[in-house]
Amino acid sequence: MDHTMNFSYSETNKLSPESFTEHTESLRQYQAYLTSLTEILDTQAPETSITLPLNRNYVSTIKDFAKKHNSPRLGAIVVVGIGGSNLGTWALYNSLAQIKRPIIFAETTDPSSIIDIVSELEHIYAHNQHVTLIVVSKSGQTTETIANYGVLIQALKDYDKDWQNHIIAITDEYSKLFDYANKYSFDVLTIPQHVGGRYSVFSAVGLFPLLLAGASIDDLLDGAEEAVMDNVSSDLKKNTSLASAASIYGNYLNGKTIHNTFIFDSSLYVFGKWYRQLVAESLGKDGKGITPITSVGSTDLHSVAQLYFAGPHDKFTTFITVKNTLYDAQVSNNVNLDDLVPHIAGKRLSEIMNAIYKGVTVSYKKNDLPFVEIQLESLNEYACGYLLQTKMIETMYLAKLMNVNAFNQPNVEEYKIETNAILKGS
Ligand code: PA5
Repeated sequence: MDHTMNFSYSETNKLSPESFTEHTESLRQYQAYLTSLTEILDTQAPETSITLPLNRNYVSTIKDFAKKHNSPRLGAIVVVGIGGSNLGTWALYNSLAQIKRPIIFAETTDPSSIIDIVSELEHIYAHNQHVTLIVVSKSGQTTETIANYGVLIQALKDYDKDWQNHIIAITDEYSKLFDYANKYSFDVLTIPQHVGGRYSVFSAVGLFPLLLAGASIDDLLDGAEEAVMDNVSSDLKKNTSLASAASIYGNYLNGKTIHNTFIFDSSLYVFGKWYRQLVAESLGKDGKGITPITSVGSTDLHSVAQLYFAGPHDKFTTFITVKNTLYDAQVSNNVNLDDLVPHIAGKRLSEIMNAIYKGVTVSYKKNDLPFVEIQLESLNEYACGYLLQTKMIETMYLAKLMNVNAFNQPNVEEYKIETNAILKGS
């Protein structure tokens, strides 16, 4: 991992060395199993998503399609999908300031948000540009996604003569959406059968829209590949996923059933939403679960920190900071700020943010609150690929420790069936 990402835990996770070692040792067999999957590049195991950055045969098709769709008149990309089918893409899009082409995300069927998107599309067409609509659904039958597609497709048909060439479906080869896309001659990219929604960001699901928007997917995959190799390794110094999972789980057993991802860089906010879904859907079953929450520093220090410091001690925290921010600004030193807040005049905002962050961790220590720290060197594709891959493997380790199936979501399926029954009757 070198300088990409630093993880520190031993002084602050509040676990005894014995209990921490007990948890890491109990994962040894599973860690060896994950290593074996990376060696044989298993495509059938539920954990097969970890092989995506290692076996990149599928990437050339994604690049070919991106070339085909990358026209100078492409004003924006619209990703229609929900949950595992859009959150990873969105997380990376928000984190990577270097991405130039806008991606618009249509997820819930909240009419006002979709009407806003229709207006945006009208604006794009009015400027003689067009959009590419990417419909992402592993099952191909998610009500929200197909309903939003049904609304947005009308805008394409109304304004774009070449609309059929500006749609691409990303789905499972055996889904009805796959058949539908073929029937209407839309482009299709497939999601490998055993890669589940929330683990699919390094398949076409995330890679195609991000590449079309201008991200380097090679760097993303390189970062993810290094994360796989580190996090299946038996060397705990490299294996952040394992050390982090053992820290979270040990604290869960000690009553810290809430895991707060406390982000000190607001462009990682959607990453927090992605991680929340990953953890909640993967671990929340059989009466077990860790409740994931996301906080953003320094904003939430003025909102929920009082509760964190002095409320029930039921939370474990992972702080995430970024060492080198892309932008910075300096506080003026000639407007007598010392009269208001001393010691800030002339300082860079990053320096002040850093002082706030350090102040928070000192207070956490004083209040005996358990935490671990992730520091990313900077927010580029490589580091973001490393981070997301690390968190996916961490979740697999956590599921193993908690003895739950990380890869299904039976109760989400339940509501989908009920919704369809209600729509049938209405
Ligand atoms: O992680 C998952 O499997 C889910 O969150 C799905 O991604 C989500 O329900 C959307 O499903 P689909 O991709 O089938 O439309």
